Order: sequence, then structure tokens, then C-alpha cells
Amino acid sequence: MSAEGTGLFIAFEGGDGAGKSTQSALLAEALRKRGLTVVQTREPGGTEIGEKLRSLVLDHGHGEIDARTEALMYAAARAAHVEQLIRPALARGEAVITDRYIDSSVAYQGIGRDLGTEEIRQLNSWATASLWPDFTVILDVDPVEGRARRAPGGEDRLESEPDTFHAQVRQAFLDAAEAAPERYLVIDARQDVETISEAILRRVDEVFAARRQRAAAVPGGQG
Ligand code: TYD
Repeated sequence: MSAEGTGLFIAFEGGDGAGKSTQSALLAEALRKRGLTVVQTREPGGTEIGEKLRSLVLDHGHGEIDARTEALMYAAARAAHVEQLIRPALARGEAVITDRYIDSSVAYQGIGRDLGTEEIRQLNSWATASLWPDFTVILDVDPVEGRARRAPGGEDRLESEPDTFHAQVRQAFLDAAEAAPERYLVIDARQDVETISEAILRRVDEVFAARRQRAAAVPGGQG
């Protein structure tokens, strides 16, 4: 559960080209139709400093960025994102949907860059004062297929890593889900857009239903 009570915090994860932005936009639209206020955002980014860090860490041409520096840049962007945007929105009772969050760092920096999953989890736990999503959707795609599905254009620093790197990243997402299945929904990203969005919405409904049950069980709770 996010630490903020009534707000709902959902992250989308997966390899490049998995369709995260399409699905997060569809979920945002569906939740707005239900009357929720939704903040749709992405990482790295979501704040002024986060967007600047995004260009620094993703664009080619800033010289060498070693693995630890890279991990800290993502964590710094995330710290600003949580402090300035996500926590305040959750405190207002809003839904926050982010394209990528801590699991991306665990997969890309922890496994892809070999910095260690526990180290990256700890770094990001500190950066976010331990704010974890209510649940995370993993859009699973084979890296070769993901590459083919991406919009044509230049590849950023991470996208231009070889398929073996992306295969490790994919496995890291699947491992995270396997270790805590109650906090994840893994979806085969090859399915059609509607099938995927319906599955996600069903899971969101389950989260809401579980919340209502808990509230009803607490004396004086809502519901
Ligand atoms: P993304 O916004 O998904 O890129 P695009 O819109 O081009 O698909 O993510 C940017 C890249 O940054 C992506 O290749 C994954 C990488 N990344 C990390 O390596 N670590 C992180 O913590 C995050 C959030 C992203």
C-alpha cells in the first residue's frame, strides 16, 4: 500500500516498446471517467529538475556516465518526483499513474549495469522515503520484438544497449513480480490494446474492493 492512505499509486514497467505510455493513458482515462482525479506522469521526469536529469541521463553526448552516476541520476530524479508531485497528489486522495518507477532502476541499473538489486532498492528506498506503488503493471515483451515496436527514430543511451542487456532487464522485472505476486500484474504485451487495458482495470477494481473491505472492517472506518 502506498503510505498515503486514500490515494492510489500505480506504476507501469516493462522493456522499451512494451506499450506503457498507451496503457497508462488508457487507465488514466478510465479512472477519470469514474470521477477520480488522476496525475499521469513518467520517469525520469515529472518535475522541472527531473526532466533536466532525464536529458542528461538519456541523451548521447554528455561524455561517459558510469553506472553509479547513472543510478544516482535516476534516483535523484525520482526523489524530486516523489517529493514534489507524487506524495502531494496522494495526500490529496488522487490517483497517480507513473510510466516507470523503482523497479526500472532495479532492473536496468541493479541487473543490467550489475550494481546489485538490493543496493539499488536501498538507494531508492532512501530517495523516496520508502514510497512503493499500490501495485505495478509489468508489460512483458521480448526485447527483439520491443525494439521492432518502438517508434522509429534515434535510440537513447539505454535503448541502444544490446539485446542481451534488455533480456536481463526483462528477466529482472519478471523476478520482481514472482517474488511479490500480490503487488504485480504481469501482462503479455503482445495481446491487443483493449484486452490489456481491461485486465488492468479489473485489477484496479480488485484493489478498490480490498480497500473497501478493509475500511468496513475497521470500527469507525469508511464504507
Ligand atoms: P522511457 O521513458 O520508457 O523511454 P522511452 O519513452 O524512450 O521508451 O525510459 C527511459 C529509459 O530510461 C529507458 O530505456 C529505461 C531507462 N531507465 C533506467 O535505466 N532506470 C530507471 O530508473 C528509469 C526510470 C528508466
